Amino acid sequence: MSYEITNADIVRVGPGTAAGEWFRRYWLAVSTAKELRDIPLGLKILGENLVLFRDLKGRVGLVGMHCPHRGSSLEYGDIEERGIRCPYHGWLFDVAGNCLEQPAEPKGSTYHQKIKHISYPVRELGGLIFAYLRPDGDDPPPLPRYRPLVEQGGQRQIEETRAYDYNWFNFIENGADPVHFSILHRSDPNDGTWRSWFFDFRDVPAFDAVETEYGMKVVSHKPGPTADTEYVDEKSFALPSILQIGDTEFTHFKRDRSALLDGSRNEHIMFLTPNDDEHFTLFTVNYYTGPDPDFIKKLAPTRSTAPQGEKKEYDKRPLAPFRGSVRREDMATQGTQGTIGERAEHLASSDRGVIMLRKIIVNAIQTAHAGGRPRGVLTHAEADKSVRFDSFTGVRPVAVRQKESART
Ligand code: FES
Ligand SMILES: [Fe+2]
Repeated sequence: MSYEITNADIVRVGPGTAAGEWFRRYWLAVSTAKELRDIPLGLKILGENLVLFRDLKGRVGLVGMHCPHRGSSLEYGDIEERGIRCPYHGWLFDVAGNCLEQPAEPKGSTYHQKIKHISYPVRELGGLIFAYLRPDGDDPPPLPRYRPLVEQGGQRQIEETRAYDYNWFNFIENGADPVHFSILHRSDPNDGTWRSWFFDFRDVPAFDAVETEYGMKVVSHKPGPTADTEYVDEKSFALPSILQIGDTEFTHFKRDRSALLDGSRNEHIMFLTPNDDEHFTLFTVNYYTGPDPDFIKKLAPTRSTAPQGEKKEYDKRPLAPFRGSVRREDMATQGTQGTIGERAEHLASSDRGVIMLRKIIVNAIQTAHAGGRPRGVLTHAEADKSVRFDSFTGVRPVAVRQKESART
């Protein structure tokens, strides 16, 4: 009997769950290349305990954490030319999970040939390491050539990896909810910047929710400098769990409205990977193609904005104070929602982006569950295509948005 996927399925990602099997159809970011050094790296991905390592020949492997002999963690293993060696009795595994040696077995024993450890294919792209966790994934789909990771000529930066302790979907859903920018992340409405004017909580910008080939985007807009133009801020969601925004250079550098005439030149892309149902990791890349040679250098200090105000000594709220730090503001709200399917909700008209997002994801999970190829998984014929998401922030003709929205 076919099982009908609902919102409640979205949050469960372990092996054997519908969303877990769906996620296993995609390449997922599991580490930055920089974080994988000369020791094994223990990871939890989609509820599975795994170990990532780079052998002395430079090959990267992602294998089950627990040694198939008697279960010791390969996180404490020794890295060698040919793979990783369990510290307990020395079984040696290559990046494909083949057991190459069992030092305590009699000479000439072929027992090692019978052991195949869990292992998943791994690829490096633009400073990130991706893995494909489908069991028996012998013929993985192509790793998409995400433009901010493969383009050359601009400035690329991988931000610090971030770990969160709530369900992955609460974060993703935030990307389809542009009105929270004007309210949760509001800034001084009189500071003269584009951001405080555009995301003014007393005059929240209108937005369109637009379905796209890769997923969807929300397009916030306000009247532009001329009658047929408008200020636009696009934020995209791509399957399975990628967000991209383009307003970083205007919001973080506190630019005025005139700066937007040229449009955004920075793609800020976030790859989210669920660790389990209560944790996820975020890998963030900036790719800048504008004229400022010091863009990345200037960006770094703006990312660690401390919240305003001292903590009162009687304030027991773990995330207080949070106002003034966009990241903490997000955590204080997303992290306290509870999970979709369990929380009581009263959706409003401003939730139409969120409603669209849920439908797109439920449909994709349903497609995967029925054995089909969910949206965002490329065919081999599409392997070379450049994968690009919309994140325009700037001034452009009103007609662009009207045409796109008419299609949805
Ligand atoms: S537990 Fe790993 S070799 Fe024995
Ligand atoms: Fe936010």
